[in-house]
Amino acid sequence: MRAVIPAGGFGTRMLPATKSMPKEMLPVVDKPTIQYVIEEARDAGIEDICIITGRTKRGIEDHFDKAPELEHFLEEKGKTAVLEGLQRTRNMGNLIYVRQDWPAGLGHAVLQAAPVVEQGPFAVLLGDDIIVGGKPVTQQLIEAHERTGKTVIAVQRVPKEDVSKYGVVAVEPGDDGLHQVTEIVEKPALEDAPSDLAVIGRYVFTPDIMEKLRNTGVGVGGEIQLTDAIAQQVAEGNVMCLEFTGRRFDVGAVTGWLEANIALALQGPHGDAVRAMLEAELG
Ligand code: G1P
Repeated sequence: MRAVIPAGGFGTRMLPATKSMPKEMLPVVDKPTIQYVIEEARDAGIEDICIITGRTKRGIEDHFDKAPELEHFLEEKGKTAVLEGLQRTRNMGNLIYVRQDWPAGLGHAVLQAAPVVEQGPFAVLLGDDIIVGGKPVTQQLIEAHERTGKTVIAVQRVPKEDVSKYGVVAVEPGDDGLHQVTEIVEKPALEDAPSDLAVIGRYVFTPDIMEKLRNTGVGVGGEIQLTDAIAQQVAEGNVMCLEFTGRRFDVGAVTGWLEANIALALQGPHGDAVRAMLEAELG
């Protein structure tokens, strides 16, 4: 199984921080957000990862490249732990970069990966979501795909007032949180939302999604929407959704990014110091 990570968007929710820096390179604690996402794909056993980039995104390629001078410098200084962390960044499997000439929508971004992934089922991981805890969500989706042979998308219940930020599904309920999708709508108005089950940025697709993307016109927001191609698979009865286990952070927005930093820092080696800092701050 191969994976696609779209990273061509402007990152408008994080401006001005993302004016010249890819939003995917914003750090959460001590590594860029995209590294968490790639590590999830790797933990799910995926070797070949196609990253869709664009203008101002060169930093992503540099981050996962070798840095011989820096490694040599750290070796000479005996900074072994830092060196190990650095070396991990260039052992992320086979990273294949494809440039999107204009961010024309998520569906358009995924379509750019067709020459790399179209020969079989493939995963899509969106960089705005970091999901931690337990079995990697991508692996949960792969296993559900292997059981059903269908496209499987990750969903989570969200507060009613938030449904308009997401793709939202209607389902025929199944066992163990795995449901047949009967309808999918991109960013519905609150009163039109078919449920409170929102699509979170993880998918495993059967390869015919590419053909459907080619036949998908401009949708909500003037963009080519992945959701509209998924709707064509839904009409063929070919889409399941999984209420995954794990904690999800929306790092594409300021509050979600702050939440991820605090929560993950509390779990890490600086946890005690961060807890003391927060207690002092809150009085
Ligand atoms: C995209 C998808 C949407 C999904 C969301 C998850 O929207 O179009 O269906 O619910 O990701 O993060 P975006 O957040 O890119 O606008």
